[in-house]
This record gives sequence, structure tokens and C-alpha cells, in this order.
Amino acid sequence: MAKRIQFRAHGGPEVLEYVDYQPAEPGPKEVRVTNKAIGLNFIDTYYRSGLYPPPSLPSGVGSEGAGVVEAVGSDVTRFKIGDRVAYGSGPLGAYSDVHVLPEANLVKLPDAISFEQAAGVMLKGLTVQYLLRQTYELRGGETILFHAAAGGVGSLACQWARALGVKLIGTVSSAEKAALAKANGAWATIDYSHENVAQRVLELTDGKKVPVVYDGVGKDTWLTSLDSVAPRGLVVSFGNASGAVDGVNLGILAGKGSLYVTRPTLSTYANNAESLQRMAEELFEMIIGGKLTVDISQRYPLAEAAKAQTELSARRTTGSVVLLP
Ligand SMILES: NC(=O)c1ccc[n+]([C@@H]2O[C@H](COP(=O)([O-])OP(=O)(O)OC[C@H]3O[C@@H](n4cnc5c(N)ncnc54)[C@H](OP(=O)(O)O)[C@@H]3O)[C@@H](O)[C@H]2O)c1
Repeated sequence: MAKRIQFRAHGGPEVLEYVDYQPAEPGPKEVRVTNKAIGLNFIDTYYRSGLYPPPSLPSGVGSEGAGVVEAVGSDVTRFKIGDRVAYGSGPLGAYSDVHVLPEANLVKLPDAISFEQAAGVMLKGLTVQYLLRQTYELRGGETILFHAAAGGVGSLACQWARALGVKLIGTVSSAEKAALAKANGAWATIDYSHENVAQRVLELTDGKKVPVVYDGVGKDTWLTSLDSVAPRGLVVSFGNASGAVDGVNLGILAGKGSLYVTRPTLSTYANNAESLQRMAEELFEMIIGGKLTVDISQRYPLAEAAKAQTELSARRTTGSVVLLP
């Protein structure tokens, strides 16, 4: 019997239960993985709260982890028992000792990358890969705005931007988080708990504003993001840490300067084994080449997943947090 975290009804972290469960036998194109480390992500809280609907209830939790293959389905060709593997795009259920996934969702983990590093970087690092390299292809020399720059995705974005020669202006909610973002390569920081972000962006860019804003905060920063982007620029709204952006009148994009907006997801960009592999190779090269460090700021036993989610939602975490089975 294995252990996993699940919820039967939506609610706060208190609905998360640590239960016994019998992992399924892998289907023909599936792989069963013994998790060695599991990633904590804000999206996990959206499924728990009901903001995003899980496929069914009771539901498993979590989309990111790393471990060792313990069984493979009859049609699996790329993996064998004993392989070190990692994943960052579900299906839900990563908060578990053992997880069964489609072969297409897995990548082989290079020996140079630890299970903890992989669990802290697969979902968040692949997200940064597509945000900075595909959604808006940064080439170096640009100045950009990235919200929540000391968080999981933000900490990796600061480092990746520095490696690309991009000046990243990062928003944060405290002096400690500003120092962390700077240490990770942010060119400048703005404390959005008391500073006027759009005004500071104008000053920092000599009145030009930025060509692209990356916004995973959502509701609280939506208007700020529109006000910080240059005419015909792009607002990438990729998350809802403060609540969902809704009720948008498209006319606001005209009024603010013929703006573009996209609402991307990792699952669209890594929607097949080939694109996942390509994105993961670039991510792993960044880590092995020393350009990207995975900062595991906190570790929790799997049984304490509710506590870990409470800390994440209360903005008391930085960098990546992992759960250990
Ligand atoms: N679309 C995608 O493909 C994709 C993939 C991965 C992640 N995401 C999104 O990216 C964002 C960051 O994810 P993450 O897992 O790395 O989380 P995180 O950045 O480690 O945590 C969220 C951060 O958001 C900031 N925040 C601002 N207002 C908040 C509020 N009202 N409540 C809580 N936090 C608030 C906090 O930083 P400050 O204290 O500095 O404000 C907090 O630390 C999330 O919105 C997530 O859903 C999207």
C-alpha cells in the first residue's frame, strides 16, 4: 500500500488528506514512477480550491516530480525499469509515493541533476523556457517586467533573463524578496506593496515602458501590467496568485495602446513528447552549464503538504519548495 495526498471536496489546505492508496498498474503507454521528490506549485492550490476543476473527486494533487521507473506498460518504448525520470505537466497525483503517468509526459533525468533539483524545476523551469523563449522570444538587450520575481517561477526567470542579457525588472512584496531577486539576476526591483509600479517602470525605462510584461499574479496586477507595457506590446497573463482576471472589456487594450494579451499554459507548449523533450533539454543545459541554480528554499515531508500549501498561499515561500515521500 502506498500513501498519497488527496481531497474529496474543494476548500482550504485543511481538505488535503494523507491516505493509503493502491497505485494502478500502468496502461500500455503508461509508466509507474516511485517518486523521490515532488514539486509544490501555485496551480496545486487552484485545483484544491476549485478555481480549476479537477477531472474527478476525490482527486490527487500535484503535477511535478522526479523519481525512478518501477513498471512500464506493454507499449512503452523510451523508458525501462530503473531509469531516473522527471515530469512537470501532470496528470494530477504527483503528491504521492508512486505515480502513474503517460510515457509522453516523462523525460529522462541526466545524472548531473538531483531528484530534488528536478522536482523543484520541471514545471516552473519549463514554464520559464516557454515564457522567455517562445511566448515572447527574448533575444538579449530588452528590458522586461516580471511579477513575483522572488517566487518559484520568478526566481528562475531572473536567472534565465540574466543569462540572455535581458534587463528584468522584478516586482516583489518585501525588501528580503527584492534582495533575493537581485541576487538571482534581476536588473531592478519594485516593491509593489508600496511603490507605483507603472510610474517606476516609466522611470527605469526612460519613458519607453517595456515590450513585454509577464504576470502570474493576476487580478491585483492586471491594470498595472497594461500600464507598464509599451504601445503594441504584449502582456503575458500566466497565473492567478491573487485571483483570476475576469470581466475584461477588450476595448481597454485599444485605450492602453493597441496591446496584445495572451493567457498561455505549459500544457499547450509541452503538448507532445517531442516539444517536452526539446524544452527539457534546453532547461537541463541551463542547469548543467551553471546558468540556472534551483533554489530549494523549503522541504516538507509529503504528509505535511497542507502546511506547505498554506505557506505558499501566504507568500511565505521563495524559490522552489519540495515535498519528500
Ligand atoms: N500558465 C502556466 O503555464 C504556469 C505555469 C507555472 C506557474 N504559473 C503561475 O505562475 C505563478 C507563480 O507560480 P509559483 O508556483 O512559482 O508560485 P510563487 O511565485 O512561488 O508564489 C506566488 C507569489 O505570488 C505573489 N503574490 C502576489 N499576490 C499574491 C496573493 N494575493 N496571494 C499569494 N501570492 C501572491 C507572492 O510573491 P510576493 O510576496 O513577492 O508578492 C507569492 O510568493 C502562479 O500564478 C502560477 O499559477 C503558470
